[in-house]
Amino acid sequence: MMSNIKHKRVTTHTLLEMKNRNEKISMLTGYDFSMAKIIDSSGIDIILVGDSASNVMAGHETTLPITLDQMIYHASSVVRGVKRALVVVDLPFGSYQSDPNEALRSAIRIMKESGAHAIKMEGGIEIKESIIRILNAGIPVMGHLGLTPQSIYKFGTYTVRAKEKKEAERLINDAKILDELGCFGIVLEKIPASVSKKVTKAVKVPVIGIGAGSYVDGQVLVTHDLVGLSTEFNPRFLRRYIDLNHLMSDAIKKYIEDVKNLNFPSKNEQY
Ligand code: KIV
Repeated sequence: MMSNIKHKRVTTHTLLEMKNRNEKISMLTGYDFSMAKIIDSSGIDIILVGDSASNVMAGHETTLPITLDQMIYHASSVVRGVKRALVVVDLPFGSYQSDPNEALRSAIRIMKESGAHAIKMEGGIEIKESIIRILNAGIPVMGHLGLTPQSIYKFGTYTVRAKEKKEAERLINDAKILDELGCFGIVLEKIPASVSKKVTKAVKVPVIGIGAGSYVDGQVLVTHDLVGLSTEFNPRFLRRYIDLNHLMSDAIKKYIEDVKNLNFPSKNEQY
């Protein structure tokens, strides 16, 4: 009985039920099979195949260069490692902004070619028509407001968004629109906790924050940041739970030393 419950798939409906009973939702990014397997078997609710893969996997400065084909490659690798979590995939920059038909085609490619369960898109009212088209095709959509890294060249900085009253009001209004359209959840990135509190109260669907304080329905972090694989990124909202960078580096140095000193392989490690 217990094991059935453990492996019951998380769905968009599960997330709504969690919000309604005030149970917090956990979400992390994943980009490959091995890591996704660890994250999923640890009990995470949502795995986001984020376009942050452009930064942490490919080493680009921004999320803009990653392509739809590359996102599909990452997403299908993740899907093969996941038994329980809901797998959400970012529509990358340039795959949905031009028109709703292209947005729908991109979303369909992700669902068909990767086997993921939902897509995420950055933006509010300006992408309304695309969201409607994708939802009408039966594809669950997650919104993303606040700091939207695909628009970094428009904003110019990665600083906290919606600090001014006007921008906060616009954001709350966008969140209400996403809710009314039928998005199953909304990510809020790097905004004041007071604003995300208002959003969380104003919408029916789960609100997941990153740098958006504690008055939300759940939290998301980039896994590479949480485990200390990335070292250069140190915003106030980030909590590193382990320093994998140093642990791995120490292990690799030990291996190199053993190879050089003929300590590896030992007699038992050969045929
Ligand atoms: O791409 C990503 O990792 C994201 C999270 C920061 C929410 O969108």
